Amino acid sequence: ERAAAQTLSAAAHNYIAGGAGDEVTLRDNIAAWGRLALRPLALVGVGERDPSVELLGRRRPHPVVIAPTAFQRQAHPEGELATARGAAATETIMCLSTLATSSPEAVAEAAPGAPRWFQLYVFKDRGVSRDLVQRAAASQYEALVVTVDLPLFGVRERELRSVHSSAAETVASASAAGASGKLTPAAFAKLVDPDLRWEDIERVVAESPLPVLVKGILRAEDARRAAEHGATGVIVSNHGGRQLDSVLSGADALPPIVEAVGDQLDVLVDGGVRRGTDVVKALALGARAVMIGRPAVSGLAVAGADGVQRVLEILLGELDNALGLLGAPRASDLSPDFVTPAPWAAS
Ligand code: FNR
Repeated sequence: ERAAAQTLSAAAHNYIAGGAGDEVTLRDNIAAWGRLALRPLALVGVGERDPSVELLGRRRPHPVVIAPTAFQRQAHPEGELATARGAAATETIMCLSTLATSSPEAVAEAAPGAPRWFQLYVFKDRGVSRDLVQRAAASQYEALVVTVDLPLFGVRERELRSVHSSAAETVASASAAGASGKLTPAAFAKLVDPDLRWEDIERVVAESPLPVLVKGILRAEDARRAAEHGATGVIVSNHGGRQLDSVLSGADALPPIVEAVGDQLDVLVDGGVRRGTDVVKALALGARAVMIGRPAVSGLAVAGADGVQRVLEILLGELDNALGLLGAPRASDLSPDFVTPAPWAAS
């Protein structure tokens, strides 16, 4: 992150690193993982370790997914194409943003055969969203991640202080929706339908050839609604602390959601995942996988595809180490009794 901050323009850095309001949630996303202590099991034999997980009905070599982040050409000239190559090197699923600065087809071509998901913002212009889903399916994207926590754009003061903009033409979805010229992220967000409801999710599920994950869920009742409306999974997320400030962290919101729908839906979590120990805590609490946003963008900013690959190698190395030292050599060994509220966090 420090190296990325030195590489990026102040405006791009403020966009990437910043959060909403007083950034209470942004900070707490990281702090919340630190409020959990690990309880290692001794002498279980950890010479062979296996971080693989079952995700959307398929075995995956590990539980880390690259979160959708918009406008990656702001971080590096090769943008999403470099992220796709860096992710492919570690067999990491990359989720491409609707507001990507590369087309879904170009990203697929940049890393043929690599696993990828497509994140959908449902635009006011439903035709554009429908077309994006068809294009993603035609390019072998494996799942649709529908983000529901951005009906309005968060109050992001760092962004307001150093306004930056992207050309609508480099954002394939935005130019399809009729946007043109240089736009700020807040202006791009105005393409999103603020009146989306559960019936719309049901329609997206019905029309999508791909399984649908609903991203931006923090309450168990909403996770249940996602299940009732046909979703295959939910991503417990507060959008990296960029939307409503002072909401719960993913780590704190996760347990009741797993309890409510863990046997029906794939539950993923994101926000503040920075260490292998964070990944094992998330899995111990019942998440099937985690998403990382800013770490991947930082790697991209510093060294393009190699930087993304390196970030993933560090995190996956730490995950392997944590599984061994915790005495849960297989990711599938993890269960809630491996974590406990940290004594150092007691108020
Ligand atoms: C995001 N996020 C996001 N989410 C989404 O569904 N669509 C998007 O286009 C974006 N864009 C975006 C840009 C940037 C710069 C950031 C940092 C984040 C949210 C993202 O998918 C994820 O939820 C968070 O980034 C996870 O938190 P961490 O890992 O960044 O702490």
